[in-house]
Amino acid sequence: MDRLRLGVNIDHVATLRNARGGFWPDPVAAARLAEEAGADGITAHLREDRRHIKDADMAALKEQISLPLNFEMGATDEMVAIACRIKPNACCLVPENRAEITTEGGLEVAGQKPRLAAVTDQLKGQGMRVSLFIEAEEKQITAAAEIGADIVELHTGRYCDLPAGPDRIKASLDIARGAELAEAAGMEVHAGHGLGYDTVGPIAAIPQIVELNIGHFLIGAAIFSGLEEAIAEMRRLMEAARQPDRKA
Ligand code: PXP
Repeated sequence: MDRLRLGVNIDHVATLRNARGGFWPDPVAAARLAEEAGADGITAHLREDRRHIKDADMAALKEQISLPLNFEMGATDEMVAIACRIKPNACCLVPENRAEITTEGGLEVAGQKPRLAAVTDQLKGQGMRVSLFIEAEEKQITAAAEIGADIVELHTGRYCDLPAGPDRIKASLDIARGAELAEAAGMEVHAGHGLGYDTVGPIAAIPQIVELNIGHFLIGAAIFSGLEEAIAEMRRLMEAARQPDRKA
């Protein structure tokens, strides 16, 4: 199996910085540290309300980081214009609701195909890869393939929120089935949201998934162990799940 990539989402470094205004802690410095610690990509979400990442962070990340940059964004004209200016490697389209604490559900692709197809074409036309953040449902996967998405990122939030046990196992099997369908439809498969040390294993073991995007847990763990150690431990768990024979 190919090595599973880890994209580190640095939004919540910016959350902490914004709690006091000013420049500390700096999300770009965190991205640099993540790179040194073995991250394969950096993800940042420029929300409509700029509650964490700001426009200047996005531009600085693109300029100062050599890892691929994954720009999470709502499918709005404003965000498309910013993406076309900054030109990250990939844009991950997510649903955005001003009142939510975090991205709550997957993008409703099947219900807004013409609009999302237009945004996808525009971004791809400017040389960016397009990823759609969706629930692992056949209807959404088929619609993502039909509008020409390069990637689907399967939402692991519901799986992570369930207590350990049969319901969580069932949710991981639904994600595995979604990953199979998405790969068969010709798309690259990523997953993310809510993953931590206790939940990453079963998702990392799904062979069609090539990238996990993880943020909130890692930034929280960094308070206790440092960011480098948190990333190293996450990588170790991902690799152990990917290659169970190596665990012994
Ligand atoms: N992937 C997507 C598309 C997201 O919106 C988020 C949250 O911004 C993540 C991954 C990372 O989620 P978490 O911060 O819970 O690890």
